[in-house]
Amino acid sequence: MRGGIRFRFDFSLVGESNLSSGEGISAADFRCAMEQVDRAVEALEAKRLRGEIGFPDLPFLAPEARAIAGDAKALMKKYTHLLVLGIGGSALGTRAVYEAVGGAAARRGLALSVADNVDPDAFFPLIAAHPMKKTLVVAISKSGGTAETNAQLSIAIAALKKAVGKRWKEQLILVTDPEKGVFRRMAEAEGLQSYAVPPNVGGRFSVLTPVGLLPLSAAGVRIGALLDGAAQMESVFRHTKGTDNPVRFAAAVYAHYLYQVPKPVQVWFTYGAGLDRVAEWWQQLWGESLGKKRACGSPVGQTPARALGVTDQHSQVQLYQDGPADKVFTFVRWSAGREKGIVPRAGFAPDMAMLGGRPLRDLFDAEFEGTIGALWAAGRPIVRMEIGARDEEHVGAFLHFWEWVTAIVGECAGIDPFDQPGVEEGKKIARALMGERGSEERRAEFDRRIAGIRRAEIRIGEDPPARKGRR
Ligand code: PA5
Repeated sequence: MRGGIRFRFDFSLVGESNLSSGEGISAADFRCAMEQVDRAVEALEAKRLRGEIGFPDLPFLAPEARAIAGDAKALMKKYTHLLVLGIGGSALGTRAVYEAVGGAAARRGLALSVADNVDPDAFFPLIAAHPMKKTLVVAISKSGGTAETNAQLSIAIAALKKAVGKRWKEQLILVTDPEKGVFRRMAEAEGLQSYAVPPNVGGRFSVLTPVGLLPLSAAGVRIGALLDGAAQMESVFRHTKGTDNPVRFAAAVYAHYLYQVPKPVQVWFTYGAGLDRVAEWWQQLWGESLGKKRACGSPVGQTPARALGVTDQHSQVQLYQDGPADKVFTFVRWSAGREKGIVPRAGFAPDMAMLGGRPLRDLFDAEFEGTIGALWAAGRPIVRMEIGARDEEHVGAFLHFWEWVTAIVGECAGIDPFDQPGVEEGKKIARALMGERGSEERRAEFDRRIAGIRRAEIRIGEDPPARKGRR
């Protein structure tokens, strides 16, 4: 069944001996980081065995995935469009995998849209663009308590009712906690179809649960292969010793740059269609998992930034080369792209003649190597990752790799990589501002704090707020 995943993880350009700037990792620091990684892996394994964390076991839920794929097949016969409602971990994984494997151009399934915003100027036109009679709506919220997804859902239900009347319930599926929350209660009260998110898998680690598997499968993605790739990575991680283990090696490198000798920013430079969406998924995983306060109160975290090769070479590389030495770089690309198109030989000025008659990919590859070379010459630490093929196996393996690296680095740093108190606080304030019952004190506290702000605000073409009412 297994084709065998292929990856190249190259850590050469973080080694002290290969970096002239002093930004590299010494052998002693690396050994120290590896020891911490070993301890962190043991601690995480204990958590897994106690059932506290579920993501490592997800690749092995093939029977569940087969059931989902069966359901998805039936859905494909009934509908033409699939509208996913959700935000953060309930949206980014689906979009990342879908785009990474090639999206609608490469996979035959329902036409997929993922709505992860409540900007009315984007959301209402998106709903209007859907043929609601033929649209399946999948609303995803692990907690069920996210205001954005609740608002989206109610708008989508209204649109479904308008289109199909009482049959709206047939066209709606909820993905949420198996027992708790508004979505679960709604599913029970209305008799809606629903899927459960395992309670021990947090939003940003949930792409291999029904959160990602259901919409992806309905959109034509081979979810069995996605899990299989993740299972292969899990096996590499479990059975490879010491510095041959790419997960442990990467975790040691990134732990070093997270808190031993901190680099406040990590930039992912992606070269290859679809990888920018994977970078978006990684940004949430990295930012939300590792941006925390330690028990002693000191903050830890690394700002995850994205750059698109080659486009952003012409906007960001200057900063990366000559600006502050506060970044570690991760270059990601497909080892082999799909298109083999050739640049015509004719029509070049003599100075550019070397471009003619060869694959456009040669130039793309040269840009990748050239940018790494330029940043290396400036002494910047660089990790390079090449993904063997643009398919489900490799994408599943890559996401699973990063989930492990993130979990281990967080454990090393002495924080909980699986919670998100800051996000929860923001959600509570948003609900209080919208008038949630029982949140009056939170609202009053927020208003008190805002009232204390000394204003420095300049408005052009608007009356100051105090005078507005008197018009
Ligand atoms: O990773 C997380 O837990 C969060 O980013 C959530 O995914 C996000 O806030 C959406 O939450 P929910 O799925 O509960 O609506």
